[in-house]
Amino acid sequence: MSAGQRPGRPVIPGHVAIIMDGNGRWAQMRGLPRQEGHRRGLEALRCAVRNAGDLGVRILTLYSFSTENWRRPATEVSFLLGLLKRFVEKDLGELHSAGVRVRIIGGRDDLAPDLRRLVEHAEAVTRDNTHMTLVVAFNYGSRDEIVRAARQLAADAAAGRIDPAAIDEGVLAARLDTVDIPDPELVIRTSGETRVSNFLLWQAAYSEFVFTPVLWPDFDRAAFEDALAEYGRRERRFGGLSEPSDRAAGAA
Ligand code: IPE
Ligand code: IPE
Ligand code: MG
Repeated sequence: MSAGQRPGRPVIPGHVAIIMDGNGRWAQMRGLPRQEGHRRGLEALRCAVRNAGDLGVRILTLYSFSTENWRRPATEVSFLLGLLKRFVEKDLGELHSAGVRVRIIGGRDDLAPDLRRLVEHAEAVTRDNTHMTLVVAFNYGSRDEIVRAARQLAADAAAGRIDPAAIDEGVLAARLDTVDIPDPELVIRTSGETRVSNFLLWQAAYSEFVFTPVLWPDFDRAAFEDALAEYGRRERRFGGLSEPSDRAAGAA
């Protein structure tokens, strides 16, 4: 254990979530089109999945396209959708052989049928994998996710299937896209921006946040390790006066 690490808590968080930001600026700095930044961003994503697995992270959530990203020019939106499609088509076999379970969070109703089928296929094929879980947040917005959950619960209440008084945090969490996925201990955002941009608002209630100036295409193994080291220096409290045991922290 190196200096600054706290005893009693593993340095490697079980669930790391990343806001992969800065592809456009990476390209702009090099006089390249934004699309090139996204292409390089996909390479960084592949590396991040490998590095997470090597470093012992069990769940990696990657924010790949937000509900607000539809506001970008149509050409950029279709390029990003194409990139995701190609990623799933090309990498699914390799992810599956490596024991990676794939989960996609985000709204599905407004996705094109072929994309929706692809997403469902990726989840079905990798359902029983246990080495690690890759959660891709696509067409994801936390507010949209919470609204969809609230709508379901309201429909159940109106139909008499659930008593409104029985709705507690656990019941609501079970209607979120992240059902059965423990909350992230660590959320990383690249590119120097220090905002959450509608990512995991519910799930990150007590997450540690690490903001790094590194642009996403440059987020390599060293940058990942730096973020984990920063996490290792944090004291988590969950509103109490001292850091609870891991078991208690995991439940929070
Ligand atoms: C992140 O990079 C990728 C997505 C949000 C889809 P950006 O495209 O946001 O890059 P910047 O923030 O403009 O540099
Ligand atoms: C957040 O990045 C969304 C993703 C990384 C997919 P943005 O670049 O869209 O966020 P803002 O607009 O800078 O807040
Ligand atoms: Mg951005």
